Amino acid sequence: MTARLLKEAKAAMLQAYADYSKFQVGAAILAENGKVYSGCNVENAAYPLGNCAEAAAIAAMVRDGARLIREIAVIGGRNGKPGKPCMPCGGCRQRIREFADATTRIHIYAAKGLHGTYTCNDLLPESFGPRHLK
Ligand code: THU
Repeated sequence: MTARLLKEAKAAMLQAYADYSKFQVGAAILAENGKVYSGCNVENAAYPLGNCAEAAAIAAMVRDGARLIREIAVIGGRNGKPGKPCMPCGGCRQRIREFADATTRIHIYAAKGLHGTYTCNDLLPESFGPRHLK
């Protein structure tokens, strides 16, 4: 399944609309229901309006009724080629956290292959989350 997620993340990366940064990102989620959802970054001429790949993949998952990320793969680069490890931005760490539990695995890829696999707590310790609002 990890290979499938990498394939889907790469395919999403190739669809990125990243005309401004030229940095293409793809993300693919394996959700609790066994289905895979992917997304790419979508930039905008009004720069702050751009969306990250993780946000797009999460939106697709939520639209389909799933609420828990089992695994997520992220890959980024330029000219259609993966580059350095694409660590999720701070905002995306919080977005992933919303739909993660302690078993969720975050796989970060680079040109050389898998850079590392993290938990949400690794990337966003002491996080604010849904339980704080209960
Ligand atoms: N980007 C993502 O899609 N995900 C991240 O976690 C990091 C950054 C995108 C946003 C922007 O379109 C481009 O990468 C350069 O920052």
